Amino acid sequence: MAQPNLIRETQGPECCTIIGRRILHYSSLPSTNRAAFEEAESGNPEGLVIVADEQTEGRGRRGREWFSPGGKGLYFSILLRPRCRKENFSLLPLVAGTGVANGLEKLGVKDIGVKWPNDVEISGRKVAGVLVESRKIAGGMFAVAGVGVNVANREFPPELGDRPTSLLLATGIEYSNDEVLSLLLGEIERYYSDLCLGRNEQLVSELRRLDVLRGKQVTVSMGAEVTGTAAGIDMTGGLILETPDGQRHVVSSGEVEMVGPVSAEE
Ligand code: BTN
Repeated sequence: MAQPNLIRETQGPECCTIIGRRILHYSSLPSTNRAAFEEAESGNPEGLVIVADEQTEGRGRRGREWFSPGGKGLYFSILLRPRCRKENFSLLPLVAGTGVANGLEKLGVKDIGVKWPNDVEISGRKVAGVLVESRKIAGGMFAVAGVGVNVANREFPPELGDRPTSLLLATGIEYSNDEVLSLLLGEIERYYSDLCLGRNEQLVSELRRLDVLRGKQVTVSMGAEVTGTAAGIDMTGGLILETPDGQRHVVSSGEVEMVGPVSAEE
């Protein structure tokens, strides 16, 4: 379902065999996630990537808006049709978040962290976010992994406070969107291929290395709000929460994505 403002069609880096087999670049879209959803429903194969220079209705997690001004950020969505075991579906947001974090490290950016499940930070400020949306279909499911990276922003709307940063603000370097996209797709594909083969050891070990919540007080909504100390990531990629009564809970990203986590830091 090509939109009128399609500007070019490219392919991802050579290392990618699934993701980026076809990349459609648009000048403007309401939301790349929405466009990728439409492409999925029209039967497009997995690996399709939709990129927009700006989004007029960019979506964030928990019903928030994603600030998506033209020429300042990288906004893209990947269509996935995972054939992995069902229990691994909830790892998709972690695959995308960790891939983004590793891709930014490959660019040379220092002090990158992941605020579980998938906010990517530089020195404690959010530089990128991931929104995975999925739908069950006959015989399986499809998912759209949407990624927003603040690349060249010099300022943000005051209502966002001092939480966001951009690659430009954090490093002083003006990166090109194409260079960033290529590195991020390569890293996301690495973890996605592992997931499809039922392997998540590398993903979990990277999440543990990048985990910025460890040792901090967090509040998570699991039906009721539960406050405790973030005590690391378990082997399934879940957040371990130690509550004051000495109990350990494991919160899965799937669970949190559905109910909406609230961390004490926000
Ligand atoms: C978050 O709230 O942290 C997630 C933000 C995800 C934003 C990206 S931008 C590309 C894609 N299209 C959307 O509408 N949202 C995601």
